[in-house]
Amino acid sequence: MNASLPAEAVSALTEETIFVTQPYLSPLDDFIPYLREIWDSKVLTNGGPFHQRLEAALEEYLGVDHLALFSNGTLGLVTALQALRITGEVITTPYSFVATAHSLLWNGIKPVFVDVDPHTLNMDPRKIEAAITPQTTAILPVHCYGNPCDVEGIQDVADNYGLKVIYDAAHAFGVKYKGASILNHGDLSVLSFHATKVFNTFEGGAIISPNSRVKLRIDHLKNFGLVDETTIVAPGINGKMSEICAAIGLLQLRHIDRALERRREVYRRYHEAFEDIPTLRLLEPVEGLTWNHAYCPLFVLPGHPESRDQLYQRMKEHDIFARRYFYPLVSTFPMYKNLADSKRISLENASTLSQQVISLPMHADLAPAEQDRVIDAVRQQG
Ligand SMILES: Cc1ncc(COP(=O)(O)O)c(C=O)c1O
Repeated sequence: MNASLPAEAVSALTEETIFVTQPYLSPLDDFIPYLREIWDSKVLTNGGPFHQRLEAALEEYLGVDHLALFSNGTLGLVTALQALRITGEVITTPYSFVATAHSLLWNGIKPVFVDVDPHTLNMDPRKIEAAITPQTTAILPVHCYGNPCDVEGIQDVADNYGLKVIYDAAHAFGVKYKGASILNHGDLSVLSFHATKVFNTFEGGAIISPNSRVKLRIDHLKNFGLVDETTIVAPGINGKMSEICAAIGLLQLRHIDRALERRREVYRRYHEAFEDIPTLRLLEPVEGLTWNHAYCPLFVLPGHPESRDQLYQRMKEHDIFARRYFYPLVSTFPMYKNLADSKRISLENASTLSQQVISLPMHADLAPAEQDRVIDAVRQQG
């Protein structure tokens, strides 16, 4: 999700301000040799050497075989739907960043929103099944906050009805489930390397394919459909990652384990700080998960002395910019709210969660003293 700040917030920033996230950046001096290499080669884009090296390095790090880099995750989603020729209706979650559903509209596909499980915050396979119509061609679930979907349950439904599954894995960098990468489930998975993500290339993304044939099609689609100078095989788009972003990715990858370790520690401290408050709930990771601690959503439950919005405002007064991820629900935005299914299908859990959630500051460089300020602010309870 993108962390753009409201205008009034920008004018109120001070040295003490704590943001919901802060991009992880490798030491600048280490980047200079990469820049020199790019300047010397004069290859700036079009699948150059850094692009190739980053694809190989990420495949190895993530434990996947066929990764295609993109200039951002949204173009990855749009292209993934094109690559599988998805049409008609696609079942997806309203509890996500708006790019998930927007990728459907960009393909002229009708999003059908279904409710999420209140514990995992991910799409419930039984509710997916209930929403299938003759027009349904695919399911677009999100591993929300990096917490894996019920991949087996979703695959069963997809197999029974002959549907494709494209995972929006924007939050799921490095996540493992039962010891293996979560990115190998479904027909395709799409990552985001946006500045706010666990692993960033400033802007960037990737599609994970099951085999080299599908990856080749995706490589063509992200490069205007070009195969060679005179052959165009598809109405492709320009979704290529530049050499600068790929080089940044290679450098960032050298430091990712430390960043993940720091996130784990920040999450542990939040967990310890709030576990005695029964009206505050943190995400419970599913069993068998190696998590990336991409976010720290806190749910303000009924009976808490202040509402989620009161807490959000009060934190701002303490110079702490938490964000209400994901609020409002995507299905309430103007381009979605008049879809017939948005009214017919109950989105009760997603709706409740979006009224309760506040995402606390979570990043690798959050200092213990800063985190203590966040914890104290939450615990003051108005
Ligand atoms: C769930 C989800 N899907 C898609 C995206 C889009 O990714 P990008 O910003 O790289 O286009 C984001 C984040 O921005 C996201 O949080």
